Amino acid sequence: MSLETLKLDKTGGIVTITLNRADKLNALNQQTIKDLDTAFQEVYDDPEIKAVILTGAGDKAFAAGADISEFKELNYMNGRKFAEYGQEVFEKIEDCPKPVIAAIKGFALGGGCELAMACHMRIAAEEAKFGQPEVNLGIIPGYGGTQRLPLLIGKAKAIELILTGEMITAETAHRLGLVNYVVPKEEVILKAEEILNKILNKAGLAVSQTIECVNAFYREGDGYQTEANAFGNCCKTEDFKEGVAAFVEKRKPNFTGK
Ligand code: COA
Repeated sequence: MSLETLKLDKTGGIVTITLNRADKLNALNQQTIKDLDTAFQEVYDDPEIKAVILTGAGDKAFAAGADISEFKELNYMNGRKFAEYGQEVFEKIEDCPKPVIAAIKGFALGGGCELAMACHMRIAAEEAKFGQPEVNLGIIPGYGGTQRLPLLIGKAKAIELILTGEMITAETAHRLGLVNYVVPKEEVILKAEEILNKILNKAGLAVSQTIECVNAFYREGDGYQTEANAFGNCCKTEDFKEGVAAFVEKRKPNFTGK
């Protein structure tokens, strides 16, 4: 697949999707949002893809926000559409049935921070910086930032970050629960691969149903019914029989995704 703003690299079940506009600090223009939509559709549809690493080209930025050069034309109507389409694509990433890890070097600001938050986990380089600086432009985060940031770091800290527009370091982001790990920048992808490789040999349905159930809590405030249904779904699989048999027989399970 050839996409204007992204680079895709499939290796051993993991696809690495790289935001590829390093000269603009990987700012998310409308073409990038469309390309992410297309790329993640491929992730949903391609059975050979089991997991995703989302990263930015170069060391300077994961993404320095929505592309401000496209802001001049925005008014109430197209501003709403702009936010709605970004929200839809980021929700597609959050709902992806395969685990998605953001590997973050440099700035993750505005839409870049929102994109990282739509991923299931975040690994940050020591020099990474996070923030929602939209207030400095007279707007607010429009790609889910006002919703996901409080979920990840709590309401008071989220409101402080969004209202002040200040950046925080990777270490602070880690302390607040915004990122899972902070590592030297050379190890960001390796750490993401290490986590994904632990997940790749698990039962595929257990993985996708876990993502769905956790999202159900954050979306609806109550995922218990979703969890019960998902548990039932897992009980129907060959993988469940295999997992239990392997435990009893004291061997490693061989999951087939059936
Ligand atoms: N939209 C469009 N272009 C952007 C961008 C964005 N969000 N962020 C950076 N760029 C572009 C710059 O315009 C510049 O392009 P140019 O070389 O053609 O002039 C290039 O990326 C490099 O950025 P620059 O500002 O020169 O780098 P810096 O190291 O001096 O500063 C930042 C880095 C991140 C502090 C600064 O780029 C910045 O504040 N960006 C905007 C962040 C923001 O407000 N994001 C939220 C948007 S809603």
